[in-house]
Amino acid sequence: MFYRNSIKLAVRSYSIEASSKVISTLKNPSLFKTSGYINGEWITGNDTIEVHNPASFPDPTSKIADVASLSATDYENAIEAASNAFATFKKTTGRHRSELLLNLYQLMKENQDDLAKLIVLENGKPYADAYGEITYAASFFQWFAEEAPRVAGDIIPSSNGSNRILALRQPIGVCGIITPWNFPAAMITRKLGAAVAAGCTTVIKPASETPLSALALAHLSELAGFPKGVVNVLPSSDAPAAGKLLCEHPKIKKVSFTGSTNVGKVLMGQSSSTLKKLSMELGGNAPFIVFDDADVDKAVDGAIASKFRSSGQTCICANRLFIHESVYDEFSTKFTEKLRKTVKIGYGLEEGITHGPVIHSKSMSKVRQHIDDAVSKGAKVLLGGSKLPEIGENFHELTVLGDVTSDMLISQEETFGPVAPLIKFSSEEEVLQAANTPDVGLAGYFYSTDVSRIFRVAEELEVGMLGANTGAISEAALPFGGVKQSGFGREGSKFGIEDYTIVKGLVLNIA
Ligand code: SIN
Repeated sequence: MFYRNSIKLAVRSYSIEASSKVISTLKNPSLFKTSGYINGEWITGNDTIEVHNPASFPDPTSKIADVASLSATDYENAIEAASNAFATFKKTTGRHRSELLLNLYQLMKENQDDLAKLIVLENGKPYADAYGEITYAASFFQWFAEEAPRVAGDIIPSSNGSNRILALRQPIGVCGIITPWNFPAAMITRKLGAAVAAGCTTVIKPASETPLSALALAHLSELAGFPKGVVNVLPSSDAPAAGKLLCEHPKIKKVSFTGSTNVGKVLMGQSSSTLKKLSMELGGNAPFIVFDDADVDKAVDGAIASKFRSSGQTCICANRLFIHESVYDEFSTKFTEKLRKTVKIGYGLEEGITHGPVIHSKSMSKVRQHIDDAVSKGAKVLLGGSKLPEIGENFHELTVLGDVTSDMLISQEETFGPVAPLIKFSSEEEVLQAANTPDVGLAGYFYSTDVSRIFRVAEELEVGMLGANTGAISEAALPFGGVKQSGFGREGSKFGIEDYTIVKGLVLNIA
């Protein structure tokens, strides 16, 4: 092991443990599954996906597992099983489904340490973050366990005195769930919890980078007493084919997708042949605005939490930090100083590590492209700025760029990596216009102590979610989703269940 603190950030480098060694330390080894899960059976399939630890890739010891890559026939079988299971599952009571979800919540908590280790291995985020992700992920089962018994319709007065109108709320049917690698557990539970609470059955395609958490959840759903066919998990190395199959299949009644805007558009096109109900949680380009009346210390903490969560790899990470000219110097000094003092980049299972690698070389290329483009157009590197090959190929310093302008790529696109661009502004009008320029609108953040401004700005920002004086907004109670090309539909919260139900109108004549 060696420790380096010579350049701007604290960085630690290790001989990273072999993945197989970590797997051998799981307290509950049965959580480590490498087969797909269809109708309560573990299916090996003919092909496999190599799953690697991004912290040590491409070292041969980075290989965690060869996971089954399931075929189109397997998908057909899973959809059939989910469709058969729906015939009975839709008739269960909300109270019963609530108990199933609470069992699953409990099992996640009991196995939290192992589940967190699986996330560190396949995603690279530090253990504390992975442990936090399991708390977050499990909270969706708890939340939707509480919602399940309360899925209710309505009685509506009719214009005909002899009639009564009832709005019945029913489960929509078999749901296709397509999830990303950045939250290998939470992006599944946020969808699965709502689907099950509503009485739907599911076919889940996890990201090929991170299928192990999904398969561990499938195992726990079995232990929790879920009937066969309600949860099916099918890893696939051919994401476009699996997505197309789910979107075009007539027996899939709804698809929920979290991922990029480009892929979301493709899936939406494919879903048109069956006019499928969709929820799309797509890319963002979150503005983070620090006004002249802000509490700057609080804004610094919020910026670190929002920008560098999961090394910048969340859809709601601050992407453009707009700082009022009167507090720009104070903010940039405090921001870089705090990062310098608190950040430890390295292998996620090592004590004290705060930030891990990016997921793979494609992510790294985008980070480099954004930094190089910005610097070539006049941005200044205030912190970091370099790759960290001494730790591993996928490690990059947390980076702060100053004097960023709107002509730079980093202002225009989501970086999805650990780079914070600081952009100076002088008026509320100017910053609102700049913040709203992108054609996406997922999350946004701003800091101000003026109540009038808080309401004014909240109403003007074109995003689906806002943090006012906070950089940490995620929890089960938040209606999660975007506007513009960040997609539609809301996950979590009391609204999350609506996407998994249909409303059926019943006119009852009582004359
Ligand atoms: C995401 O990055 O898509 C999800 C982030 C969150 O739920 O906090």
